[in-house]
Amino acid sequence: MVAFQLAACTLLLTGNILQTSALDTYIAAVYEHAVILSGATTALVSREDALKLMNKNLDILEGAIKTAAEQGAHIIVTPEDGVFGWVFTRDSIYSYLENIPDPQVNWNPCIEPGRFGSAQVQERLSCMARNYSIYVVANMGDKKPCNSSDPQCPSDGRYQYNTNVVYDSEGKFVARYHKYNLFASEIYYNYAKDPQFVNFNTPFGKFGVFTCADMLNFREPAVSLVEKFKVDTVLFPTAWMNTLPLLSAVQYYSAWAMGMRINLLAANIHKPMFDITGSGIFAPDGPKAYHFDMETKHGKLLLADLDVHPRLSPTYPPPVNWSLYASSIKHFSPRSQVFNANIYFDNFTFTELSQEAGNYTVCHKGLCCHLSYKMTEKLEDEIYALGAFDGLHIIEGEYYLQICTLLKCNSTDVKSCGQRVDTAQTSFDSFSLSGTFNTSYVFPEVLLTETQLAPGEFQVLTDGRLISKRKLSKPVLCVALFGRWYQKDSPHPLYSSS
Ligand SMILES: *[C@@H]1O[C@H](CO)[C@@H](O)[C@H](O)[C@H]1NC(C)=O
Ligand SMILES: *[C@@H]1O[C@H](CO)[C@@H](O)[C@H](O)[C@H]1NC(C)=O
Ligand SMILES: *[C@@H]1O[C@H](CO)[C@@H](O)[C@H](O)[C@H]1NC(C)=O
Ligand SMILES: *[C@@H]1O[C@H](CO)[C@@H](O)[C@H](O)[C@H]1NC(C)=O
Ligand SMILES: *[C@@H]1O[C@H](CO)[C@@H](O)[C@H](O)[C@H]1NC(C)=O
Ligand SMILES: *[C@@H]1O[C@H](CO)[C@@H](O)[C@H](O)[C@H]1NC(C)=O
Ligand SMILES: *[C@@H]1O[C@H](CO)[C@@H](O)[C@H](O)[C@H]1NC(C)=O
Repeated sequence: MVAFQLAACTLLLTGNILQTSALDTYIAAVYEHAVILSGATTALVSREDALKLMNKNLDILEGAIKTAAEQGAHIIVTPEDGVFGWVFTRDSIYSYLENIPDPQVNWNPCIEPGRFGSAQVQERLSCMARNYSIYVVANMGDKKPCNSSDPQCPSDGRYQYNTNVVYDSEGKFVARYHKYNLFASEIYYNYAKDPQFVNFNTPFGKFGVFTCADMLNFREPAVSLVEKFKVDTVLFPTAWMNTLPLLSAVQYYSAWAMGMRINLLAANIHKPMFDITGSGIFAPDGPKAYHFDMETKHGKLLLADLDVHPRLSPTYPPPVNWSLYASSIKHFSPRSQVFNANIYFDNFTFTELSQEAGNYTVCHKGLCCHLSYKMTEKLEDEIYALGAFDGLHIIEGEYYLQICTLLKCNSTDVKSCGQRVDTAQTSFDSFSLSGTFNTSYVFPEVLLTETQLAPGEFQVLTDGRLISKRKLSKPVLCVALFGRWYQKDSPHPLYSSS
């Protein structure tokens, strides 16, 4: 849960290549689920009542899984917290948890349901995968008893983990992932002791698994899964509250897939009343399908074709030197004064875009951001600003950011720059944004009015410029280069104080 505001084995490899030589693309599915929440999440419930709620959610997930399989999907991802919701205490979540073994035990819960104790949720998920012949990815809770022989054992005698599970198309349990980057409100779960690099091979590529804040907070396990384990596709159950201007779900997910150059299957919860919506199927060169819906209360199934091995595809984007262009040019001379305003508690340095077209530079600490742009028409009642931030973000997780952004301010008062704004009227004929980044982890965002993405309308040049390819199809909310400088992060909370 992320709720901002207040989320090689040579033999195997050979087998895999032989199997996949016939398959260049596969059909991926994600399901945005309008989870049925328990009314009173701090009250203790019986296992029977917990199962009643979980089965209601599993019934809905089963409908989506069946439909996806009928449409040929090879794999489907369902959201974090999709089986029983969120906001529990350590005690009140207990009835929802199951003992989830290490997949090395070689277990098919649909065939051997009783082998590891009460495991009705695992059995149902495994049977869905088996019955509809599709890989199923879900998120649930694991419990592991411990005692005083382990000095870190919590006082209630058990670890509780936010856990992703994966079943193959025969129902076999193939992967278990304990979330490493818990969100601040997840006090009812324990941190995994070490980051787990959960990945597995299939006939349609190599997959890695993590969840929600793992994409924003610490480097691990996300970056190593991509760079060291070289997964083709990341499976990403999430429960993500949209936080404009920089961190709405589809905006950030799409940018992360492009910046890391991987396929990403992101399934979010659907709860517009909490600003939670936004799921998609993302490829290294842009989104293949995405969904953002603040209007209805319904879930949504998305399907799209993806490359089995995107790195081997002719459309695979080349590596980018994110600072090359920005470091090579002279600063554009300032036209407007600089001012400070916050984006989600971070003190950005901004300059207002006072002309219809222009070249601007703004710097904060070591980061200078350059922008060239042309609006179709400068409107009286909307202002835009160019902002830079180079610093440690410390609210709800600590992570070091380097960000360059062009954004619409909330009102015509410059103090409102960086505040949430959902719609815009100003069209842009062109933009080019770049920055003197010290990190190679930069995620390119282009967000249009009403949280719409802009597939095919922009590109990243190998010298680090994020440029429009043509006049944008809708007014612009925000364009950003969202950089993560992992070397400057704080240590993981599990290893810092205490
Ligand atoms: C799977 O199929 C079997 C036999 O067709 C059926 O009894 C069972 O209820 C199904 N399970 C699920 C989870 O759909
Ligand atoms: C403590 O836990 C370990 C494994 O977690 C187990 O092997 C051992 O039997 C337990 N000891 C007691 C006294 O329960
Ligand atoms: C990017 O380009 C700059 C300037 O030429 C160079 O100093 C730097 O080493 C390059 N970075 C990478 C990662 O290649
Ligand atoms: C933001 O930073 C500037 C200096 O860069 C400082 O003058 C200002 O007080 C800061 N604002 C806040 C709210 O911390
Ligand atoms: C911005 O700079 C480019 C080249 O550096 C120049 O061609 C263009 O005229 C400038 N635009 C404005 C509005 O100053
Ligand atoms: C943005 O402006 C609207 C009115 O235009 C206001 O209702 C809203 O509270 C503002 N948002 C923030 C975060 O200040
Ligand atoms: C960060 O990048 C800037 C601009 O390229 C450079 O001047 C600075 O020395 C770099 N800082 C570090 C710590 O690498």
